[in-house]
Amino acid sequence: MKDSERPIGIFDSGLGGLTVFKSLRALLPGENLVYFGDTARVPYGTKSAQAVIAFSKEITAFLLERRIKLLVVACNTASSLALDEIRKLSPVPVLGVILPGVEAALKAVPAGGRVLVTGTSATVNSRAYSKALAAAGARVKVLEKACPLFVPLVEEGWCSKPVAAIVAREYLAPFRGRKVDALILGCTHYPLLKKVIAAVMGPRTRIVDSARVTAACAKADLERRGLLNRGRKGSSEFIVSDAPERFSGLALRLLGIKTGKVAVKRF
Ligand code: DGL
Repeated sequence: MKDSERPIGIFDSGLGGLTVFKSLRALLPGENLVYFGDTARVPYGTKSAQAVIAFSKEITAFLLERRIKLLVVACNTASSLALDEIRKLSPVPVLGVILPGVEAALKAVPAGGRVLVTGTSATVNSRAYSKALAAAGARVKVLEKACPLFVPLVEEGWCSKPVAAIVAREYLAPFRGRKVDALILGCTHYPLLKKVIAAVMGPRTRIVDSARVTAACAKADLERRGLLNRGRKGSSEFIVSDAPERFSGLALRLLGIKTGKVAVKRF
């Protein structure tokens, strides 16, 4: 196998990373993609940093065995808490979703504007976005809100049920009158709730998602290293740690992704 034909590894705690997978597939049609969803241990966002680091290292080692040429951590929680540890383990470049999210947000917010970061409790408590926005020299006011019930709603496939709108209102209505220019969907599950989130925030607030910028960063990395696969249609492989049929059904229903047979890897 030529080096350019080696797959890109992508992982998340569950379904959410499929929002990033979809952007990668659209931008890089020739690439072979292998996606791992840790469905046995989702959610990550309510767990300790030690647990998220341990899970992320196990998955990284597993994907490295498949000779990946790039690892995309399609999970904000793992990107916030475990990126350094993953990088120590990985001989191939590792791309997280926080910096792409910041890049996308900066395009949407004027200097002096306001950004609302939403994410899991672990991501918000890590302050990864605030730190990355500050490091990028962003002159913006950052507000943060953990929305821990969003992930179980998505994993249950309830993105357009009335309960999703009720929960979104409970978390976000207090920010509605606070002149928020952009809301960062700081969890890869949240783009699946974009409609209900946008409805609560109103038209003033741009809803920012890191998926497209992450895919563009992946493409730039592969181009830089001469590893872009310009071949025919790339393959897509899906592996989960539990309940493969459920994953497959929700991937189709929520994202229109036909996974084919989903393999299982238990740790
Ligand atoms: N989708 C992940 C994230 O971006 C993880 C959510 C979770 O498992 O709590 O944070």
